[in-house]
Amino acid sequence: MTSGEALHEVHMTVNGAAMIARVPARRLLSDCIRHDLGLTGTHVGCEHGVCGACTILLDGAAARSCLLLAVSADGAEITTVEGLAARDGTLSPVQQAFAECHGLQCGFCTPGFLTTVTAGLQATPDPDDEQVRDMVGGNLCRCTGYQNIVAAVHRAAEIGAAVHEAAVHEAAVHEAAEHGAAVIGAAVHGAAETRAAEIARSRAGGS
Ligand code: FES
Ligand code: FES
Repeated sequence: MTSGEALHEVHMTVNGAAMIARVPARRLLSDCIRHDLGLTGTHVGCEHGVCGACTILLDGAAARSCLLLAVSADGAEITTVEGLAARDGTLSPVQQAFAECHGLQCGFCTPGFLTTVTAGLQATPDPDDEQVRDMVGGNLCRCTGYQNIVAAVHRAAEIGAAVHEAAVHEAAVHEAAEHGAAVIGAAVHGAAETRAAEIARSRAGGS
């Protein structure tokens, strides 16, 4: 940073937490994320928008953080690779699939693939081979030869579908349980009212 350069406050929600960075106008978002926010999972390769290593989710869409100024992200919701897993550490379907299918070697490109594929599968949850290749075509990997990455994307789609199905099932079970409780509650209430009426009648008859 040039000494004496004016600083601008940037308010962002990053991985679910409100964060504020004070940055010069020319600060790249990738540098802001890595150096100001300390989230070094976002990698920087080319800094020209070519390799995809710096990809993050910006308001849910994949974006190359090396092509954005940090000030332009004011008010945005950002997810970096650190924010993909659940709070308890459970890997996201895409992370789990990359681990299972060995979709990485040195791992330098991996944060960019994980964020890119996360957004890609939201748009195309069940991609065919060509769609998978299209999805990751803008991300460069020096190590893997891509076969395992392509396999990982297909596997991530499978895991994502299973997770979705389990969530739908759980919601249905929960709704059924709530409905059952309401029915039982109504029956108990009705029985109590009937019994109260009987008692009232018997008292009235006895007086
Ligand atoms: S570092 Fe951003 S695309 Fe390469
Ligand atoms: S795993 Fe090494 S660059 Fe992709």
